[in-house]
Amino acid sequence: MKIQLVGLGNVGKELCELIEEKRELLNSLGTNIVVVSISDSKGTAVAQNGLKLKEVVNYKRLGWQGFRNYKSGYGALDAIRDVESDVVIELTSSTPNGEPGLSIIEAALKKRKHVVTSNKGPLVVAYKNLIKLAEKNNVKLLYEATVAAHLPVFCMLDSCFKADKLLTVQAILNATTNFIIGEMEAGKSFQKALNEAIGAGWAEANYSDDVDGIDAARKVVILANALFEADAKLEDVKIEGIRNVGPMIEEARVSNRKVKLICEILKEKGRLKMSVAPKLVSLDDSFATVNHGNMAAKFRFETSKEVFVTAHFTSPKQTAYAVLNDLTKIAL
Ligand SMILES: NC(=O)c1ccc[n+]([C@@H]2O[C@H](COP(=O)([O-])OP(=O)(O)OC[C@H]3O[C@@H](n4cnc5c(N)ncnc54)[C@H](OP(=O)(O)O)[C@@H]3O)[C@@H](O)[C@H]2O)c1
Repeated sequence: MKIQLVGLGNVGKELCELIEEKRELLNSLGTNIVVVSISDSKGTAVAQNGLKLKEVVNYKRLGWQGFRNYKSGYGALDAIRDVESDVVIELTSSTPNGEPGLSIIEAALKKRKHVVTSNKGPLVVAYKNLIKLAEKNNVKLLYEATVAAHLPVFCMLDSCFKADKLLTVQAILNATTNFIIGEMEAGKSFQKALNEAIGAGWAEANYSDDVDGIDAARKVVILANALFEADAKLEDVKIEGIRNVGPMIEEARVSNRKVKLICEILKEKGRLKMSVAPKLVSLDDSFATVNHGNMAAKFRFETSKEVFVTAHFTSPKQTAYAVLNDLTKIAL
């Protein structure tokens, strides 16, 4: 399977290491990976017979100095157009207008290349169009890592609940806010908890998307579109962040409960209602056990009733794992 990788940041580097680490296992699963190009924002490394991934990651860390396969100024779109491949893995940064990932995914699908992405941006702005484009070109578009990294959502629902009907989703989908709320429950102020989240690498210096609930809402849009065949947009989600959560945390303390930033999707009178907001949960609620960087989702079905999944997020390696798992599904 010939792969083109776009984006060699935290997730891209981990993916390269993971592919080498698991090469034997992947071969035994029929996923024989040959990476023929790797693009970052400034150029592309190309080798038709396969790049040595550890070498590429080392050269990237050195700013590509002395790496003969790297063509500066030759972008991802050029490589997708010119280089023969089966799959494009899209791991660029997430942005509100979906770019550059959106154009990269569209170009790949139009060239009849399967796509695996961890990037929410393109799916939030153009989920339906991208799925249609993939179908039209008879290729797959897989995106497990976009919603809560390696928390199994789409792969689990696709394979385990085909004959059931999904009624509602509730979830904790933002690790940063979960960490901050936990620190506040331990007695810290919002500002101190936020500073610790930044120091510990949970929050970006530009943290507003997390604390204002926007990142979680983007995941809600992807879930709604993928699981309920909706055509939801970010503005359809009612969003409340955690900047003013202090009094609710005090209320939780005196009533022996916990506060969680809960994402919710439910159908009311045939209409989908989507929200992100801090909520009080009782200690016997499974969400009460989801602490620090953990994320979780509760799915309610017509027949199977409630299914709860949770995962502990510690590093982009787990995100890379979700991408790799999607890749094994293309080989099937
Ligand atoms: N980190 C996680 O664990 C995690 C979890 C879930 C989802 N995600 C999503 O996964 C994606 C990747 O995350 P990350 O942490 O790896 O991000 P990152 O470290 O910021 O890396 C982004 C990469 O994209 C490259 N890039 C930007 N514009 C490009 C362009 N026009 N053409 C080609 N490459 C371009 C950057 O190039 P340069 O190296 O030249 O800057 C960089 O290598 C993001 O969308 C993120 O939201 C990440």
